Formats: sequence, structure tokens, C-alpha cells
Amino acid sequence: MWDAVQYGRYGDERSRPFFELLARVGAEKPGYVADLGCGPGNLTVRLAERWPGAEVVGVDSSPQMIEAALSAQPSAGVSFALGDVRDWRPARPPDVLVSNAVLQWVPGHRDLVVRWAGQLAAGGWLAFQLPGNFGQPSQAILRELAAAPRWRPLLREAELNRQSDSPEGYAELLGRPGFEVDAWETTYVHVLHGADPVVEWVKGTALRPVLAVLDDERAAAFLADYGERVRAAYPPRPFGTLFPFRRVFTVVHRIG
Ligand SMILES: C[S@@+](CC[C@H](N)C(=O)[O-])C[C@H]1O[C@@H](n2cnc3c(N)ncnc32)[C@H](O)[C@@H]1O
Repeated sequence: MWDAVQYGRYGDERSRPFFELLARVGAEKPGYVADLGCGPGNLTVRLAERWPGAEVVGVDSSPQMIEAALSAQPSAGVSFALGDVRDWRPARPPDVLVSNAVLQWVPGHRDLVVRWAGQLAAGGWLAFQLPGNFGQPSQAILRELAAAPRWRPLLREAELNRQSDSPEGYAELLGRPGFEVDAWETTYVHVLHGADPVVEWVKGTALRPVLAVLDDERAAAFLADYGERVRAAYPPRPFGTLFPFRRVFTVVHRIG
């Protein structure tokens, strides 16, 4: 279960990769734009602002996220639908497909992005971004703890997020005649404030499936274990807590 409010904390840090991804999309007057895994929809409406006149569709499998999107101020040309991005079929060849910070949750995402690229209209764009932080402490500690004897039996049902490919991997996967691929990575060094900010960040995303399968007492114990290790990996400094976060970006342009 997603919590739009918890996810919305650190909104500036989380939305920056979306804008940096979109900066590499050269579409001028797209007619049909989809935001696949749109979350609470606040970034979907930015697509409509950039391309007024486009039909913009946001799709997400979380009822909580779609409810948050629908309860925000309606924006001309934007609609939202509940659904799994793997089942989504475009009404016609899309001009722009965007998927920001979603595919790390989707099994088989490499096949999916190949399919999406193949569905693009001539001249269309596919842009996606995934966290590439699988090896960074916030994720590594989570996996280590989840595999520890105390927690493993309780977390069998918890689906942890997956690893992204490298920029080279996506360029290799999607580069072929008729397509231009632009793939890169960035490590943001976020400076977070407040108590346990890395735990608070991860609670909005990767910790969610773990906490969802534990009762309150066990969830508190897991958070205490996780927090202790995370505080050691990301010690607070007088100016804040440094939280390096690697992300992988891919933009595909269908030429002709
Ligand atoms: C980290 S949020 C990103 C939301 C938004 N794209 C953004 O950049 O703020 C991940 C979103 O992906 C959605 N999601 C995960 N797997 C999905 C799937 N298979 N189909 C549709 N949405 C999915 C979640 O419900 C969640 O809203």
C-alpha cells in the first residue's frame, strides 16, 4: 500500500530527476502522452503544462495514489486511471511515454520498455528513470536485514524492489535501427534534515512492502534495527545528513 503523504516528503528531491529526464525529451507538440506509474499525479500535470493541447493520461496500480491524483485540482487535458502498467495498452500510438521511478517495482521491466518503444508513434519518445541505488547502504542494509534469521520467515510475502540495469545495458537493449538512445546516470548528493531522514525517505518507498506485512510491534522493531544501521552508514553532520542516491536515465527517440 502506498502512502501519498509519506511519499510526498522530500518532494523536491524526488521530482528533480523527473525534470532532468524530461529535459532530454524533444517532443514539440505531442498529441498523446502517458505517465506510466504516475503516483499522486503532481508530476503528470506538469506534462500537460509543458504540452498544452496534448491528451495526458496517468496510470497507476495503487488506489491510494490514483485517489490522491483524482482529488487534486483537475487539470485540462489530464485523466487518471487505475491499472497495472504491464497491462496498459495505448489507445493509439503514443507520442510521449514517461515512467519515472516505477520500473524498479516491475518484474520483467526490460521486456516492457522494449514493448513500449515499439508502440511509439513515428517521432515519438520514451523516457524512463529508475533508482540505481541497489548497492548503496540504504538498500543493501534493507536486504541484509530482510534476509537475517529473525526477519526472513516474517518477510516471505514482502516484495522488495529490484535492481535497475546500467545505462549501457539500456542503450544496448533499446538501440536499434530507427531508434536513438540517450542513457546516463547521476548520483545526487541529497542533504537531508531532521531526525532519521534516510529512514523517513525509505519509509515512503522501499520499506513500504516490509512494513505492510509486519504487525505494529514487529514493524517498530524492524525500523529500530534498520534505523540503527542506517544512522551508522549516514551519520548526521552539523549541516544535515548526506544521502548519495544514484539514478539511471534512458530516453529513446523513434526517428521516422
Ligand atoms: C516511487 S512512485 C513514483 C511516482 C511518480 N512517477 C513520481 O515520479 O512521483 C512509484 C509508483 O509506481 C507505481 N507502480 C509500481 N508498480 C506498478 C505497476 N506494475 N503498475 C502501475 N503502477 C505501478 C506505484 O503505485 C507508485 O505510485
